[in-house]
Amino acid sequence: MLRTHTCGELTTGNLGETVTLCGWVQKSRDLGGTTFIDVRDRYGLTQLVFNTDSDATLREQSRDLGREFVIKVTGKVVERTNKNAKMATGDIEIIVSAIEVLNSAKIPPFLIEDDTDGGEELRAKYRYLDLRRNPIRNNLVMRHKLAQEVRRYLDSLDFIEVETPVLIKSTPEGARDFVVPSRMNPGEFYALPQSPQTFKQLLMVSGFDRYFQIVKCFRDEDLRADRQPEFTQIDCEMSFITQEDILNTFEGMARHLFKNVKGIELGDFPRMQYADAMRLYGSDKPDIRFGMEFVELNDVVKGKDFSVFDNAELVVGINATGAAEYTRKQLDELTEWLKRPQIGATGLIYMRHNADGTLKSSVDKFYNEDELKKWSAAFNTQPGDLVLVLAGLTDKVRKQLNELRLEMGTRLGLRDKKAYAPLWVLDFPLLEWDEETERFHAMHHPFTSPKPEDIPLLETDPKNVRANAYDMVVNGIEVGGGSIRIHDRALQSLMFKHLGFSPEEAQKQFGFLMDAFEFGAPPHGGIALGFDRLCSIFAELDSIRDVIAFPKNNSGRDVMIDSPSTIADTQLNELKIKTTV
Ligand code: AMO
Repeated sequence: MLRTHTCGELTTGNLGETVTLCGWVQKSRDLGGTTFIDVRDRYGLTQLVFNTDSDATLREQSRDLGREFVIKVTGKVVERTNKNAKMATGDIEIIVSAIEVLNSAKIPPFLIEDDTDGGEELRAKYRYLDLRRNPIRNNLVMRHKLAQEVRRYLDSLDFIEVETPVLIKSTPEGARDFVVPSRMNPGEFYALPQSPQTFKQLLMVSGFDRYFQIVKCFRDEDLRADRQPEFTQIDCEMSFITQEDILNTFEGMARHLFKNVKGIELGDFPRMQYADAMRLYGSDKPDIRFGMEFVELNDVVKGKDFSVFDNAELVVGINATGAAEYTRKQLDELTEWLKRPQIGATGLIYMRHNADGTLKSSVDKFYNEDELKKWSAAFNTQPGDLVLVLAGLTDKVRKQLNELRLEMGTRLGLRDKKAYAPLWVLDFPLLEWDEETERFHAMHHPFTSPKPEDIPLLETDPKNVRANAYDMVVNGIEVGGGSIRIHDRALQSLMFKHLGFSPEEAQKQFGFLMDAFEFGAPPHGGIALGFDRLCSIFAELDSIRDVIAFPKNNSGRDVMIDSPSTIADTQLNELKIKTTV
């Protein structure tokens, strides 16, 4: 080793020792006679001192050291006169006796400090420098710990980690595939897996019984703060289990991780039906760190000649407790916020429960004090509360009110990043109608088992068929999703039929799986947790980008390596994608 210690470990216990440290120059201060240099490595910072007793060439050398130079220094550990309680090594400093520049460095394009002056684009371009900063490195250290704990937990329950291929063929899971041309099979393409779904099911047919993999998945979809084109799943599958077993096993894993990585003991996860989540929160991933549940008002407000309510399929609101002080201006601003195309509400109706007990609404013309008392009763308002109401088509208005609820939760400070509110959302619909293609799609994926009692509805009322499918939600984020699978060829064929596949198409795409079901497929089910999302929740971040070492930007680009990029004509020729040079 070039060094005897790291830059984060020396204390008064080392006084008098001669040590050698390696690291990067964080900053230097030249105070006339004395030069102080902070040297940094992954483990911390140590203060180096060059003073009037030091050799003249050494002092000269110290003055030439620029920020981010890589150095090796040897010196004696002494006690500081001016101690720094904020630094782990703040009680000591090193009187340097030898210094070697291992490499010089250009001036970095932004400050390598916790609070940097670098903008997002610049930091992305020089990601390797951004990764030198503590907050980003700490996220990756946390990610590493989480991965270790996942393996420890699953290994203790006899799960086997199996790698599945990355060059596969399309599995329809809602997003577009990234494809890879095959040189040896001109005109044919592999697809990168959106998840190892079919392989893990085949592993169950093979008798592996309990599988897991921390695995890269690829989806060519529009990017958001919690979506990357390549991301990581903790992918799991189990045989001979019920849904209850899966929920318990993975709730157990989440609890294990929170306890061992964050030191937080979580209680039992509440469970909510999908239909209730939609009715009470307008979302299949409700943030239950705060209440503010939806109250439906059709019975209370209709028939009073207010056409907006009378013509609406659903009138529904929330009680923003304690927000009666909101001014007219604030409410107008909130209304404009709701009317933006991203949300698309047509307007906002409100009622204040004033501190003096009076009720005042924005539709007083239609609703007198007696009527408003019914509103107040429905929302159980107290003096100081503000009721916010939207009206329209059920699905749309629920979505809009979900946005408003989350926004009010944020504005009222109810979404504390250090508070964790996990839950299971159960019994998702099996199918969802896709406006674009005008046909049903599998809401989870086509291998998900319908609830046996709902199978007859496949013919008569497909959108009301419920699935044995579940999501794990934490703080309004879908952390994971899974289902009990179909393991019977006939039922799987029936599913494909309802998804609009002809028998030939189904056989071409998924014959391998349906064939396998005829060779003794055990009942099985599983789940995949979004590992990046889990890491970002643990790191208390809104975006998954900073828990990924080398993420893509919002256009799916890696601006550091400048990818995607064009390839040479010779490569295109070889791949038979372009036939002329
Ligand atoms: P699903 O599609 O729900 O299920 O994905 C599982 C979890 O993966 C995470 N996730 C993502 N994270 C970051 N970027 C993305 N683009 C992205 N897409 C999904 C989410 C999600 O809950 N094969 C099934 C699982 C199963 O049935 O066992 C599947 O992939 O946290």
